[in-house]
Amino acid sequence: MSTGRGTLMSDELTLLEKAALLSGASVWESRAVPRLGIRSMTLADGPHGIRKQVGSSDHLGINASTPATCFPTAATVANSWDVDLAHQVGAALGAEAVDLGVDVVLGPGLNIKRSPLCGRNFEYFSEDPYLSGTLAAGYVSGIQSQGVSACPKHFAVNSQELRRMASDSVIDERTLREIYLTAFEIVVRDAQPKALMSAYNKVNGTYAHENAHLLQDVLRTEWGFDGVVVSDWGGSNDAVAAVRAGGTLEMPSPGLDSARQLVAAVEQGRLTEAELDARVAEMISLVARIDPSRDATVDTDAHHALARRAAEASQVLLKNDHGTLPLAAGTRVAVIGDFAQTPRYQGAGSSVVNPTRLTTTLDALAASSLEVVRHAQGFVRTGGADPSLLAEALTAAAAADVALVYLGLDETSESEGNDRTHLRLADNQVALLAALRGVATRVVVVLSAGSVVEMPWLGDTDALVHGYLGGQAGAEATVNVLTGAVNPSGRLAETYPVRLEDTASHAYYPGRHETAEYREGIYVGYRHTVTAAVPTLFPFGFGLGYTTFAYADLVVDAHGATFTVTNTGAVAGAEVTQMYVGRHAPSGVHRAARELKGFRKVHLEPGETATLTIPFDRYTFRHFAVAHDAWQVEAGEFSVQVGPNVEDLPLAAVLEVAGEEVADRPAGLASYDAAAVTAVPDAEFSALLGRELVARAPRGPLDVNAPLRALHGARSPLARLAAWVLARLIGRSMRRGKPDLNLLFLYNMPLRAMAKMTNGTVTTEMVDSMVTVVNGRFFRGVGGLVAGYVRGRRSTRRLSAELARPVPVPAPSAAR
Ligand code: BGC
Repeated sequence: MSTGRGTLMSDELTLLEKAALLSGASVWESRAVPRLGIRSMTLADGPHGIRKQVGSSDHLGINASTPATCFPTAATVANSWDVDLAHQVGAALGAEAVDLGVDVVLGPGLNIKRSPLCGRNFEYFSEDPYLSGTLAAGYVSGIQSQGVSACPKHFAVNSQELRRMASDSVIDERTLREIYLTAFEIVVRDAQPKALMSAYNKVNGTYAHENAHLLQDVLRTEWGFDGVVVSDWGGSNDAVAAVRAGGTLEMPSPGLDSARQLVAAVEQGRLTEAELDARVAEMISLVARIDPSRDATVDTDAHHALARRAAEASQVLLKNDHGTLPLAAGTRVAVIGDFAQTPRYQGAGSSVVNPTRLTTTLDALAASSLEVVRHAQGFVRTGGADPSLLAEALTAAAAADVALVYLGLDETSESEGNDRTHLRLADNQVALLAALRGVATRVVVVLSAGSVVEMPWLGDTDALVHGYLGGQAGAEATVNVLTGAVNPSGRLAETYPVRLEDTASHAYYPGRHETAEYREGIYVGYRHTVTAAVPTLFPFGFGLGYTTFAYADLVVDAHGATFTVTNTGAVAGAEVTQMYVGRHAPSGVHRAARELKGFRKVHLEPGETATLTIPFDRYTFRHFAVAHDAWQVEAGEFSVQVGPNVEDLPLAAVLEVAGEEVADRPAGLASYDAAAVTAVPDAEFSALLGRELVARAPRGPLDVNAPLRALHGARSPLARLAAWVLARLIGRSMRRGKPDLNLLFLYNMPLRAMAKMTNGTVTTEMVDSMVTVVNGRFFRGVGGLVAGYVRGRRSTRRLSAELARPVPVPAPSAAR
């Protein structure tokens, strides 16, 4: 790096300085080595707005942060299928990061939506790796265009919140590569993030932050990633194993505990200095790649307008009977529903942004061409019947031409740290809608939810606009769709099943004990529904608009698919053209019937035709051949289909592809061959994995990796009491409609994380003693705790003094 003295080499640092550089100095800062010009970097969430805390710091979005633009969440922007837009949002995030003094933006999140139940789906893009990776690359290139670093997360196979820090994702190599890693591969290859965040969970028995297969073999060697791997907050386990495996920076701050362990490991020969140097070089290079003197002026009005445009492009019109929408100017509307007054525009947790301003639906309608005749709350957000609210809503609806009904999921349903248990809207909202049906001339539902809901009530509405979680200007965007000022062009980035039970992972999700078994294999989302012919409520890629499009003239050659699309309606609009590829000839491996391999969004005036080409790329025809530990293209015929969603593909062609002969299918995978994966027997999953299933550990003494929720089964009555109190408090916060994220985090947090998050107050040695206490050996444990505390303090004092001691600065050298 350029330090004013030429390029800095890691041999200019002392062993302790190197070790210390690999863990955080505080919740949001890395360590500095001032004598060598290595400055401390500031990291901050997050995915859809900058959460820069100036007062008390926390990684759960609890304490206040400086105002910043709250863009729509990733689940929302994913519906735009617009990579340019993703780039623009990313660039705005980057500019705000610069303005707020943030060096590394902790996002975007691009984990695959394995199940619609994941509590963090609102923060992720899609069930499909190609769409997720492409949009995430747009964000990353946008963020990094401002001179700061993005930090895509959480690498990898982090698709449930239950036991999120204490869960082992058990997954076969092919599914890992094709579904869960491909999105990250696209982001790394296309956008070269300078940093990447590892996941909390284990992957096939090894924590993600110390998983050499993920971090070395795949990320660095195969994809050429040369940046910093940051642990998720408190997600590191063994500091030495992490450094050896390719994990660079432990966050937030284990004090000097990890540095001490790294120094000892080098001195004892358990870690080579070369391994340490490799990580140190990554840190130094990250500092060098971020210009500290960068500057940005943020125009908050312009960013609010961008947030609105992003939300407009992401609204999905799911139903529009009898041309109910758009509503003509002057239409008399009754606005019903709690979400019209108090919008849900983002999810809960570390991604929470303190918006620069917030438009409510009532504000947006007041500024529109519609006439609001009444407003009624309609229901209590947290559930329960309220006859007077219902009566008021019915009166309001009867007085208007159209009832605009704002329904949605409440705050407890979409939160980091907590998975959903069902996909239903609250009963009181469904009952309200049914009652309105009887009195309203026309009903339009506007839905606020960052994820999938079941809709047995769909027949009770004439039109349905899904606004997802639209950010601070989301309400304006929806009103613009209602009036037709914007022609909706959002398309679903996830499948809407008729019932939760129709999802492939239903029987396995979430993993409730030590393991989360990904038994459904590659059949995630539409890959399952189209292959196993499962009917859907709305297919992947679906969305309506106020115009229509016709597809024609498909020509497929070795480079891609070329076709025309024409706007056959009366108004201008945008169409998301989608290309799916499947095997036409018999295959030597089991496959999904078709997979998304490209898309293009195009804006067309009425009557206008565009000729589009969607090129093939390295991802189009490949599959991961486990036996060869390599990607292969199977020789033979593939079908290439183009159209508006995965279940409606009017154009199709067959292409002969050159490649390798793939031998007979492996035996013993009948469920996978038939895509009948909702109840895969042990023997078949084991055959898919290529190894025996790990039996559930017999209940025994707890260890450092047991989450606090496991204290319910601890030998120590005190520990059991603590778990009971924790569970009670969490239950109470849920009933109040405001999940206590701190407690939820603790409940799923392993004991070891205490040594990673307390800035050295609790050391690893002390955690070992706590484990002794919870396992029933109270006095021995407490003795260890006290001794550990004293030793920890003493050692921290000694190491701090050593770090502060002046080291002679080497002479400048021209060679460096
Ligand atoms: C979340 C990350 C986030 C980090 C810092 C963790 O709990 O999983 O996504 O970036 O906290 O706030």
